[in-house]
This record gives sequence, C-alpha cells and structure tokens, in this order.
Amino acid sequence: MSTRRDFLKKAALGASALSFGSVLEGMSAKSYSNIKGASDKIRVAAIGVNSRGGALAANFAKQQGCEIAYVCDVDSRAIAKCADAVTKIQGHKPKTEKDFRKALESKDVDAVIIATPDHWHAPAALMAMQAGKDVYLEKPCSYCPEEGEILIQGVEKYNRVVQMGNQRRSWPNVQEGIQAIKDGVIGNVHFGKAWYTNNRPSIGIGKEVPVPEWLDWNLWQGPAPRVAYKDNVVHYNWHWFWRWGTSESLNNGTHMIDILRWGMELDYPTRVSSTGGRYFFKDDWETPDTQVIDLEFGNSKSMTWEGRSCNGRTIEGSSVGVMFYGDKGSLLITGSDGYRIFDMDNKVVKQQYSKLEIDPRNLMNPAESLDALHINNFFDGIRKGAKLNSDIVSGHKSTLLMQIGNISQRVKRSLDIDSANGRIIQDQEAMKYWGRDYEPGWEMKL
Ligand SMILES: NC(=O)c1ccc[n+]([C@@H]2O[C@H](COP(=O)([O-])OP(=O)(O)OC[C@H]3O[C@@H](n4cnc5c(N)ncnc54)[C@H](O)[C@@H]3O)[C@@H](O)[C@H]2O)c1
Repeated sequence: MSTRRDFLKKAALGASALSFGSVLEGMSAKSYSNIKGASDKIRVAAIGVNSRGGALAANFAKQQGCEIAYVCDVDSRAIAKCADAVTKIQGHKPKTEKDFRKALESKDVDAVIIATPDHWHAPAALMAMQAGKDVYLEKPCSYCPEEGEILIQGVEKYNRVVQMGNQRRSWPNVQEGIQAIKDGVIGNVHFGKAWYTNNRPSIGIGKEVPVPEWLDWNLWQGPAPRVAYKDNVVHYNWHWFWRWGTSESLNNGTHMIDILRWGMELDYPTRVSSTGGRYFFKDDWETPDTQVIDLEFGNSKSMTWEGRSCNGRTIEGSSVGVMFYGDKGSLLITGSDGYRIFDMDNKVVKQQYSKLEIDPRNLMNPAESLDALHINNFFDGIRKGAKLNSDIVSGHKSTLLMQIGNISQRVKRSLDIDSANGRIIQDQEAMKYWGRDYEPGWEMKL
C-alpha cells in the first residue's frame, strides 16, 4: 500500500519534473489531483507552544515545503499567540486543539513538534509514532533512561523519523570544529569540559490557588502523578521540580555534553559522580542550582559538566561552552556557530565563526536561521531517508549522560556503569531512578 511518506518521497524526487509542468513520478495528473488534500508539504502539528514551541512553529512555517497544520497547547493563551504568528507567516490559519491526541488522529498531519515540559516528551513522542507521525522532539528526549530506551524501540517498531532538538548538531562551523578534532588537529583528546551559567532568580514559595481558566491542569500533568495546582510552576519553573523537570543538567547540559560526546567519539561511560545542590535560595526549587557531573570513560578519557544556574560568571568568556583538551592542543566551542583552536602554549592557531549573532541566554530562540538547518535535516529524513544529524540513539546516549549524573546526585555516591549499554551496575537504590512513576493509566506501552 502506498503511504503518505512514499508520496512525500515521490514528490521530492518529482519536484524537478513538476517544475517543468510534468507530473509526479509514477502518477498521472488525475491520480495526483485525486488524492484528497494532496499536498507535497510536510504538514506539522506543533505541541506545546508557549515559548520554544512557538519559536519552532514559526521557524517550521517559514521553511519551504512545510505547513503548520495544527497548533496544540493546554494553555489557551499560548494557542492564540502561536496561531496568530503562524497565520501571519504562512498566510492561512492552522487548526487549534487543546488535546494534541486529536491532532494525532488527523490524516492531515505528517509530523509533530514536541516542545512541552520534559515529563511529556517521551510519552507524547511514542503516541505520535503509534499514530504514524514523524517527530521533532525537543531535548532532553526523555525524562528518565528507561523512557529513552523505549523510544529507541519505538522508532524501530513504528519505523518513524525522530530527530532530537539539539540543534547544534546541524550548525556548519560546529560540525567543522568536530571534524577537526576527529582529524587529529589537537591530537588525542583526553578530557572535555562543558558548562552553563546563568543568573536565575528565586522561584519563591508557591501557594495552592484555583487553576486559571486558561489552563487544563489535568492535561498539563498528563503522565505525571497528580498534585494540586500552585502558582509558581506554569510556565517554565517546572524545570526545577523533579516531578516534571530534569534540572539544569538536562535543560542546558544536554546540549553541551552532546558536543563533547560527539567530538570525543564516546558512547557510554564506566563511572559517573555528581556534587552540588540547591544552594543559592531557600524556595521550592528542588533540583541543583550548582552541579558538577564527572564522567569517566575507561582509563584515558573523562569529561565534566559544570552548571551554575544562579551565578552567571562566564568561563572562557562565555555563559555556555565546551573545551576539548588534547595532547597537541585544545579546541573551544561556545554558544555560537564556530570554534577556536589553541596550541599547547595557549596561542590561538585558528578560529572560525559564522557572522550570525547568537544569544545563548535567549531561552526561546537563540539562533533561528541556524536552527532551520536542523529542521531541514529532519525534513530530509522524512522526504529522502537522509541520515539524521541527531537520531534517537545518539540523542538518548547524550541525554543519558546527564540522567545518570542526576541519579548519582540523588543517591549521593558515584556509580559504576556498564560501558556496553549505559546501565548502572549493582545498585538497586540508584536503579529506582532508571524509570519513573506515572499517573495510573499513563504508562508508556510500546
Ligand atoms: N533546543 C533548544 O534550544 C531549547 C530551548 C528552549 C527550550 N527547549 C525545550 O523545549 C521544551 C519547552 O520549553 P519552554 O521553555 O518552551 O517551556 P514552557 O513551560 O514555556 O512551555 C511549555 C508549553 O507546553 C505546554 N504543554 C504542557 N502540556 C501540554 C500538552 N499535554 N499538550 C500541549 N501543550 C502542553 C504548556 O502549556 C506550555 O505552553 C523543554 O523541554 C525545553 O527543554 C529547547
């Protein structure tokens, strides 16, 4: 049976033929026009559009061959704002839905963007795959390691294209810097350091208040066990509660540890340890605001991530970055699309930066035109079966490094890891964090 994906592939192949007034390969003009609502555009439902999802929806709408068909959110104000912005870009209104599962039922949707809070990421991605949709999934791809493993199986079982939203994988000068490392420009890399710093204020002590009329609190919680609504969680602050969020380490650490893992060509570590805590304020924030995660890979390679959510003092002049330390020199990648190479005497021997200004502290949309490269790599995966720059196996491996770091932080000891699969060795208490609690009825089922 011919599928929608076949059609999109044929359309991509036949685009040149069409432009000469011909028809799609293997199809008569009549059969082409007979396909109900036939569109060679990739039709996308944007799910979770308050901030990052709104920026992505606008960015997707700006790309050739893409249309935002649905805007979905449990906040009616976020829907209105995003739908309005998308309408201005694409010239017609997307449909809107509070419950994204209705959009998943629609034959007019080929793919989804998931930019909800983290506790929803993997469950929503699995639902989308089961409905036959491809997925652009914001980082971290999962809330806990078990969910990442389920996603890998889901991609195979349902044969879907799933790209994680660690967009730097598609930035050209970052790619070039990574290639330079692989080519041996700084020799054998033994150590990598990643960091993120910010001046985030206190989130205070929340009060139980009636759920605002614009929010469906039940659906916002979705897979997470139910609690009463408080006034300091929605939006954004959920990041700092273990029930929904995954800490700064997965929020911003995922991006940078992924670059280290990529450049150092590593998969799973042999040992992990973490120190830190909520040090700066006494408030409801549960996850660390200060954290150092150390990861060892056998006897000759290690990496570290330093997160300071409440002291924005920069490192190497940047609030975010990675440094690779080799036996012939060092290579720096900060928040921008570029890199700088130092010799062993600290002299800059090469630097390469794109002219685009990037603000890593712009939470929503630090680099729109660069992010479009990652989006188009996702489209190529759908249309041409192209290799994804951040497929789910790679996305899971990088996400896992920070997840096991958080597990070490929570059990307050270092953990031995099986380098064959990333699993924690002989520590039942730590393994309790491998999975998570779900609201009954919301468990992920392959
Ligand atoms: N790749 C990047 O550079 C980047 C940048 C920022 C954020 N992010 C990621 O994007 C995600 C969203 O972050 P944010 O800062 O926009 O958070 P946010 O809290 O501002 O927005 C989340 C949105 O999801 C909505 N939502 C919750 N449950 C939903 C459901 N069941 N269906 C539809 N919508 C639902 C919320 O109402 C809200 O509008 C996070 O996972 C974050 O890690 C990635």
